[in-house]
Amino acid sequence: MGRGQVVQIAHLSDLHISPVPLPRPWIEAVHLKQVLGYINWLRDRSAHSRIRLAATMAAIAGAEPDAIALSGDIIELGMSSEFAAGATVLSNLSSIAPLALTLGNHDPYTPPSVRRLQTYWEQFLPGGATTATDPREAYPHVWSSGPLALITLCSGIPTWLFSAEGAIGRAQMQRLETILAALDRTAQVPVLHLHHPPDTARLSPLQRLRDGDQFLDVMARHDCPLILHGHTHRGDIRELSRFGKRLVLAGASSASAVATTGPAAAGFNLIDVSRRDDCFHIAVSAERFAGGAYNTFDKREWIV
Ligand SMILES: [Fe+2]
Repeated sequence: MGRGQVVQIAHLSDLHISPVPLPRPWIEAVHLKQVLGYINWLRDRSAHSRIRLAATMAAIAGAEPDAIALSGDIIELGMSSEFAAGATVLSNLSSIAPLALTLGNHDPYTPPSVRRLQTYWEQFLPGGATTATDPREAYPHVWSSGPLALITLCSGIPTWLFSAEGAIGRAQMQRLETILAALDRTAQVPVLHLHHPPDTARLSPLQRLRDGDQFLDVMARHDCPLILHGHTHRGDIRELSRFGKRLVLAGASSASAVATTGPAAAGFNLIDVSRRDDCFHIAVSAERFAGGAYNTFDKREWIV
């Protein structure tokens, strides 16, 4: 069987860059959500580490991927100093490979956070800095190479006090349908990428992707074989059946997690896509930090 060019994506998520600075209302607008978020972070402040994040990034650099999919929750409370720290990390990741960035619920944490992220992360956002108050307006973003179309969506929006929900929204979903309908499926296979997992039943109502069911319908209708996501801080690979179509979901654990055992340990995924005659070969390998190094703990390969 003829094997064509292999394109590799490194997929990481939920950096939650620490330490989180004290919200300072005398410097910039602070919402109650940020104060409560800070107290919450203090209670579990040792869960993430910049040292572990640097180790994950070094392992990704060692894999020499063709592109990097970063699934959001780069920071915690959406404050300016956090966006500045995040810009340094985004710049380092961009120096490894082209970066497909999406936002989680912690990045556009409050409405003023949307303006801040457009200021500090302008060069990393698909549409650059815009006047939009909805960060989803610049998405979907498509990164194309050989047999792969990596389609990044944004599900991160400012939400109310106790909510970590996300939503793709009707306008972005329609743009996605247009992109998928126009894709030459004899030449490329789409891999979807967003922060929130769309299989909502496994999450509490306050953590869900509100339009996850509609999104899964679109995935099945357009024969999309693979969805990459973050948000759960669990490295896992799952399979769903929708309208008789097989969908694979690959969750990335937190890239900065201090935990060293189980699915909550720091990790990332590597996705290889290649053309084989009239089909595409997809391989997803889940890497997890254990015993001082990153090792493959799960791997799926299939043909579409
Ligand atoms: Fe999240």
